[in-house]
Amino acid sequence: MKVLVVGNGGREHAIAKKLLESTRIKQVFCVPGNGGTATTQGCQNLSLNIDDFQGIERFVMVNNIGLVIVGPELPLSLGIADYFQQRKMMIFGPTKAGAQIESSKSWAKELMLEAGIPTPKAAVFTDAEAAKAYVLEQGTPIVIKADGLASGKGVTVATTVKMAHSAINTIFRGEFGTDNLRVVVEEFLTGQEVSILALTDGITVEPLLPAQDHKAIGEGDQGANTGGMGAYAPAPIVTPELMERIQEEILEPTLAALQKRKIDYRGVLYAGLMITPDGEPKVLEFNCRFGDPETQAVLSLLETPLEDLVLACCQQRLGEYSIRWKSGASVCVVLASGGYPGSYQKGKVITGIEEAEAKGAEVFHAGTQLKQQQLVSDGGRVLGVTATGETLEQAISKAYAAVDCIQFEGVYCRRDIGRRALGDKN
Ligand code: AMP
Ligand code: GLY
Repeated sequence: MKVLVVGNGGREHAIAKKLLESTRIKQVFCVPGNGGTATTQGCQNLSLNIDDFQGIERFVMVNNIGLVIVGPELPLSLGIADYFQQRKMMIFGPTKAGAQIESSKSWAKELMLEAGIPTPKAAVFTDAEAAKAYVLEQGTPIVIKADGLASGKGVTVATTVKMAHSAINTIFRGEFGTDNLRVVVEEFLTGQEVSILALTDGITVEPLLPAQDHKAIGEGDQGANTGGMGAYAPAPIVTPELMERIQEEILEPTLAALQKRKIDYRGVLYAGLMITPDGEPKVLEFNCRFGDPETQAVLSLLETPLEDLVLACCQQRLGEYSIRWKSGASVCVVLASGGYPGSYQKGKVITGIEEAEAKGAEVFHAGTQLKQQQLVSDGGRVLGVTATGETLEQAISKAYAAVDCIQFEGVYCRRDIGRRALGDKN
C-alpha cells in the first residue's frame, strides 16, 4: 500500500519512518514534508500546500494511494477529513466538527462540563471588559486562553492582573484571528502535565503510552513556552491505576459526548492533562492529532504495525486490537535554532546526523530542508534525536550521546529532557 502523510514536522517524519518499517508499505508521500522525508528511502515529498485538498485528492487518485494520514490540526480544522470521506477515500483524522475539540477551547470546555469531565473551572467571554472584571474577581495566577487555533501561542499563565488584562487585550485586538472573538479565563492549576494520545475509531478509544512533553525553552522548565523541546515515554507518573481512571473519567466520556453530538470521530484524541498534587487528572486541553514531539518518543516503542492501527481507526475495527509495546523507555531531545521561540536564523548547514544514528539513536527531522544536496536548518525546531533503552536512564544517555554528534551554527537543546521522571522515581 502507498500512504500519503500531510505535514512537515518531526511528527510526520516519525510517522513516515514507522510506516516504512512494515513490508506492506511500499511508499510514503509527504505533503510538503521536510529534509528528512526527502532523504528517507521509500519517502517522497510533494510540493503541494496542506490546504490544497483538490491537489492532494488528484495525486491520491492518480497514484492509487490507499490511505491519507493528517499530522497537523490546521487542515483538520479546515475539513480535510470531510473532503476525503465524501469522496470515499481512506483518511485518518477527525472531521471539521470533531476537530473543534482543538480549534475552539470554549467548545471543548462546554463539552467537558456537559459530560462531567474533570477540567479546571473556567468562564468564556465575548467581551474584553467582562473578562477583565472576572480576572479582578478571581485574582491571580490565572490562565487566559484565546479560543481558536494559535499555533501554541494563545495561552498566557498570568501571574499579575496586569499580565492577564494585557493578554485579554491582545486576544481582542485580533492577534490570534478575528473570527468569533472569545476568551477562556481558566483557574490556574499546579501539578505535572502529561500527554495522553489515544486512538479512536469513534466507538473504541485506546490510549497509547503516556508521555511527557517539555514545553519551556529553558532547563528546569524556565522561560518561554515552545512547541515542545523534548518528550519521553512512558511517563511513570501515570501508573496503571491512573491510566484506568483517565480511560474511565476522561477518554470514554469524551467519546460519548462526541457521539451525543453526532460526531463520528476517527483519529487521535490527545488529552493534555494536569495531574494535580493530590493525584487528580484534569484536562487542560484536547488536541485532534498526534502531539509533536510526543509522537517521536511514543512511536519508537510501538510494536503493533502503525498502519494496522490507523486503518482500524478508519474502518471502525479498533476493538480488534490490543496495542503491543516494546519494553523500556524512549526519549526525544529537540535540537532548536538559537533564538527560538523568538527570532532565529535559517539556512545553517547541519552535520553529524550519520554519526548520531551510529550511536543507536534515530534522528527525526522537523525544520530542515535539502538545498542543493545539502541539509540546512529551516525552522525553530530543527531535529528530534530519539533513543530507546531498557531504562529511561539508558535512553537519555544514548540520546544525548547522539545529540553531541550533531552540529549547526547556534544549535540549542535542553540537557534535562526526561530527568523529571528520574526524580519522581527516587
Ligand atoms: P494549552 O494549550 O491549553 O495546553 O496550554 C498551554 C500550556 O499552558 C499548558 O501546557 C500548560 O503548561 C499551561 N496551562 C494551560 N492551562 C493551564 C491551567 N489551567 N493551569 C496551569 N497551567 C496551564
Ligand atoms: N507537544 C504539544 C503539542 O503537540 O501540542
